[in-house]
Amino acid sequence: MAPMGDNVVVSNIELEKLLSMKGGKGESSYANNSQAQAMHAKSMLHLLKETLDRVQLHGCSDDNEIPFVVVDLGCSCGNNTINVVDVIIKHIIKRYEALGFNPPEFSAFFSDLPSNDFNTLFQLLPPHLSNDNGGVSMEECLAANNHRSYFAAGVPGSFYRRLFPARSVDVFHSAFSLHWLSQVPECVVEKRSSAYNKGRVFIHGANESTANAYKKQFQRDLAGFLSARCVEMKRGGSMFLVCLGRTSVDPTDQGGAGLLFGTHFQDAWDDLVHEGLISSSKRDSFNIPVYAPSLQDFKEVVEENGSFVINKIEVFKGGSPLVVNKPDDAIEVGKAFANSCKSVSGVLVDAFIGDKLSEELFLRVQKRATAHAKVLLHQLQFFHIVASLSFPQSQ
Ligand SMILES: C[S@@+](CC[C@H](N)C(=O)[O-])C[C@H]1O[C@@H](n2cnc3c(N)ncnc32)[C@H](O)[C@@H]1O
Repeated sequence: MAPMGDNVVVSNIELEKLLSMKGGKGESSYANNSQAQAMHAKSMLHLLKETLDRVQLHGCSDDNEIPFVVVDLGCSCGNNTINVVDVIIKHIIKRYEALGFNPPEFSAFFSDLPSNDFNTLFQLLPPHLSNDNGGVSMEECLAANNHRSYFAAGVPGSFYRRLFPARSVDVFHSAFSLHWLSQVPECVVEKRSSAYNKGRVFIHGANESTANAYKKQFQRDLAGFLSARCVEMKRGGSMFLVCLGRTSVDPTDQGGAGLLFGTHFQDAWDDLVHEGLISSSKRDSFNIPVYAPSLQDFKEVVEENGSFVINKIEVFKGGSPLVVNKPDDAIEVGKAFANSCKSVSGVLVDAFIGDKLSEELFLRVQKRATAHAKVLLHQLQFFHIVASLSFPQSQ
């Protein structure tokens, strides 16, 4: 009998239609497993605000009719995106008021792939604070903490292509998303290629050709992202980007991402093979479409694009992705690790081997992580590439 799961197939073309974080509000949902991202974002707020201070404010007059447009790319479906949009808009309102002007009205676009759980996101949005006379002041904003001072809309589509009309966006923000590739490079799943990722489901510890194929894909994707944004951004606008990164120059050492997808997750796939639940070629055809770039990998693309002024590109220590109440409780650490893994890769794994085998896989991830809880808590650290870019007034 053929091993289970061999009849469920996901092609590269479908990745864009399929990829999403776990929706809803369940135990392994992204909404319930993104506290670490929230903490990492908080530790970078000063860098975000520095970027916002560079945005050219338009229409500084008392009859400011053009809306100020903020976009979060790769918003997913938790509170993080709502919180960051709130921070951005409050900061911009403060800047208008410091100059003695009424702020304009604000539009916020929440953008992600079409399979994102926009329903959960929209349900989390606080009600709109309406002010028929135009923008909302800082006092009104603070007095109505549970309200939003912007018009909200969802935009489905890949951020590697155009999503907005030309010259329509003042601030682009994107956090913890750009390390997701648009596709697994074809040569990585091609048996005769030197880049075939035999025996592995991620590039951590893979051979050099496999890692280089991922690097090329990342750089091609980022180039597409920047080309789209430099058409969409208003002159004088700014962009704040954060994605998983690594400190090593060697792409086969993926740092924190490597520990997340290249150790217990990898071993759990091997367990399924050894237990005869899936074939080894089935495992070998699954690859996590994530690449944690080095500073150099990222910078090269921005410089090559040449449209943006680089205010800052740096590697920033994010910390552990595991948020646990009782760090001494190995079972809790194991669960947190498995949930963390599942919240970001579960949808892909479900599509690839089906829900039942996916459940088996993550049970094995949890068991293995529980057995290595102490090491995980100590070693699992994320680093991020943080980029602050501005689009010049005129070129
Ligand atoms: C880890 S979540 C980050 C969510 C949120 N920004 C936060 O700070 O918590 C990554 C998001 O990037 C999205 N994503 C990945 N590739 C994408 C693409 N090509 N276009 C748009 N969104 C993408 C995923 O669907 C996912 O929702």
